[in-house]
Amino acid sequence: MIGKDLSLAIRLLNAGELVAIPTETVYGLAANGLDPLSVSKIFAAKNRPHFDPLILHLDSTEHLLELVDEMPHYAEQLAEHFWPGPLTLLLPKSQLVPDIVTAGSPLVAVRVPNHPLTLELLKALSFPLAAPSANPFGYISPTRAEHVEAQLGDKISYILDGGPSEIGLESTIVDCSGDEPVVKRLGGITIDALSNCLGFVPKVDIQSHSNPSSPGLLDQHYAPRKPLYLVEDIEAFCQAHSGKSILYLSFGANTCPEGVYEMNLSPEGDLIEAASHLFHYMRALDSHSGDCIVAKRLPDNGLGKAINDRLYRAAHK
Ligand code: TXA
Ligand code: MG
Repeated sequence: MIGKDLSLAIRLLNAGELVAIPTETVYGLAANGLDPLSVSKIFAAKNRPHFDPLILHLDSTEHLLELVDEMPHYAEQLAEHFWPGPLTLLLPKSQLVPDIVTAGSPLVAVRVPNHPLTLELLKALSFPLAAPSANPFGYISPTRAEHVEAQLGDKISYILDGGPSEIGLESTIVDCSGDEPVVKRLGGITIDALSNCLGFVPKVDIQSHSNPSSPGLLDQHYAPRKPLYLVEDIEAFCQAHSGKSILYLSFGANTCPEGVYEMNLSPEGDLIEAASHLFHYMRALDSHSGDCIVAKRLPDNGLGKAINDRLYRAAHK
């Protein structure tokens, strides 16, 4: 069921049930993050492997020090600058955090999301919310309540509708367990923005091979069911596959080959607009009649880096 009933969401979460929540990045599938039984329902509903750890969502930094053992100075700087916002920090976990949340890792992922409804929800609860993106494991992340309903509607008690996610890409993840910050996932906060805050350019360590310790980084992830081809030359691709019905996920000013169905992420070439449309358009093309989706890499700067990362992982290998 989809709705805006905050008190129902509060009751369900207090009773250990699952509720899908809106955030500025993507919709999350939330449960009481301090209760292992509630958290285990998330893994079951998503069909998510237990080695894939979850992010804990807080309304502020007020109770953060109950969840983490230490916080280096640069992590405090990042938290102060970007929260609430699309940034997740990996920090040494406290005793309070159940092992199922971190998949046995000594680090816990935490973030303060920037969505008014979810912040209000978090304020009303006495525990943080564990929440992965509210999609079946491996599929495209949801950026609207209807996306969640379409795929997980029968598995969860309630979907809190906060409108379309403003940013449309998952949070940037920064490992703050060492002397220096290390970016582990590209997302809603750009490397440039991180650098401006830190005063230096952080290391980026994003494995592109299959890495079971961080499944969000698996080569094949965020993927539609139709094959998606990432190509340089759309014209040449269409000529080589002339018998096929082709769907084109385009960007900026471009000419669409004849007979091809096109959805343009941002005709003006705006990367922020493109990010906000990416997952919605990938879903729309996936449910369109057509044989395959084709896309070109976007400019590799700003949010373009994170968009290209998602396109690469969505692409047919
Ligand atoms: O924007 C977001 O981050 C969204 C919204 C709902 O907050 N959440 C999200 O969660 O994208 P999820 O579970 O789909 O991706 C979180 C990723 C995991 O796949 C894993 O790679 C990493 O975060 N992660 C979480 N906890 C970790 C930990 N303790 N150590 C290393 N990586 C961790
Ligand atoms: Mg996910």
